[in-house]
Amino acid sequence: MRTVPGLCSGSGGLGHPEDSTAGSPHSSLISQGGELKKSLSWAKKYPYAYPRWIGGFMATLVVNHPDYAKTVFGHGGKGLLILHGPQWFQHRRLLTPGFHYDVLKPYVSLMAESTKVMLDKWERLITMDKSVELFEHVSLMTLDSIMKCAFSCHSNCQTDSDSDYYVKAVYDLTYLVFHRIRFLPFHNDFIYRISPQGRRFQEACRLAHQHTDKVIKERKTFLQDQQELEKIQKKKYLDFLDILLCAKDENGAGLSDEDLRAEVDTFMFEGHDTTASGISWLLYCMALYPEHQQRCREEIKEILGDRETVQWDDLGKMTYSTMCIKESLRLYPPVPSVSRLLSKPITFHDGRTLPEGTQLYGKIQRNCIGKQFAMNELKVALALTLLRFELSPDPAKPPKAIPQVILKSSNGIHLLLRKLP
Ligand code: HEM
Repeated sequence: MRTVPGLCSGSGGLGHPEDSTAGSPHSSLISQGGELKKSLSWAKKYPYAYPRWIGGFMATLVVNHPDYAKTVFGHGGKGLLILHGPQWFQHRRLLTPGFHYDVLKPYVSLMAESTKVMLDKWERLITMDKSVELFEHVSLMTLDSIMKCAFSCHSNCQTDSDSDYYVKAVYDLTYLVFHRIRFLPFHNDFIYRISPQGRRFQEACRLAHQHTDKVIKERKTFLQDQQELEKIQKKKYLDFLDILLCAKDENGAGLSDEDLRAEVDTFMFEGHDTTASGISWLLYCMALYPEHQQRCREEIKEILGDRETVQWDDLGKMTYSTMCIKESLRLYPPVPSVSRLLSKPITFHDGRTLPEGTQLYGKIQRNCIGKQFAMNELKVALALTLLRFELSPDPAKPPKAIPQVILKSSNGIHLLLRKLP
């Protein structure tokens, strides 16, 4: 590991200086599927911070204490998620109207539409006593839904495997980031850049940026035309891009093209993989606890009556289901930790320092701007799934949680689905 003067000695963690090396956090101590549990036990043992070793020569610093995390989060890059200081504040203010309930309201029917496509697929897939791997289907569903909400783009990515190159690029990038984290040699920028995966990653980035740039340019040209502007104002719903393009601060300043692209990218990635994880683990929890599953189903049936779809007004009435969703998010947090790479050295409140280039994981996070959007999507997916299927776990294929960027399962999430009459 790069030296971390004053913070860590040997491979022990902070908080229990007497623990120097024995049982110290090392990736090799993690059994398959036991990563989440192990990380939690280390967090208890080292309440401030600890270096987690990968191989014998490299480590990332896992930060647990809020005072340390605060210092770490004072540093950043592009896009709301990784901005900091006044620029973060300005972007956050510009973006906040994009998550107002007036904007989110029409998204509910778009989410329901995407969920139904997924459930139709499951109906075709279920065979007697054979479980269905859900995670991949849910990921495509949330991607489909975010494409509609972000760009008004109806991609058909759930049914058409040859769909849009942008969808493919986003899907590829999500997978490649995950793969890079898991494969140690790829942590080195040079090795990664010259590897086939690294080249695929660059190409996917290029395609994704090309698409976003094109959409921004076209929409901007529209906005300069008064008639088109009126058309946008009369649209059934405003997508995220409309909101971003119209956003102005008190001095009338909007976002630059580069900032726009970074925000769209953040929205796309934060907005589909996180909810995919949340929904998949929620359905797994429902399968594990049939009594809660049934209580949620009854609540949903009572709210909907004869209706087959969910509307905005229903969401606030799903009291018991909301409690179950929150419990599932607590048990299986879609974003278990966040990481930062230090672009300059930092000094903590107690005088300890870290050099530039240190890779950190912090358990304390910013407030998610998309949490209402996410909650709506989780509720819609839960309601429509429980109306159509009874869920139970596949004892032969229990999921193995792996907290990477997003909490996934290394072997997917397999559930038995029984179509309800
Ligand atoms: C269950 C779903 C979700 C979870 C668990 C989640 C979790 C988080 C977390 C932990 C952060 C803080 C990250 C940090 O401090 O580095 C965050 C930030 C953020 N999230 Fe979410 N998120 C979810 C859904 C969404 C959705 C659906 C969107 C957009 C549509 C979104 C957009 C963002 C953005 C833009 C930020 C940066 C906010 C800022 O820095 O001010 N998230 N999210």
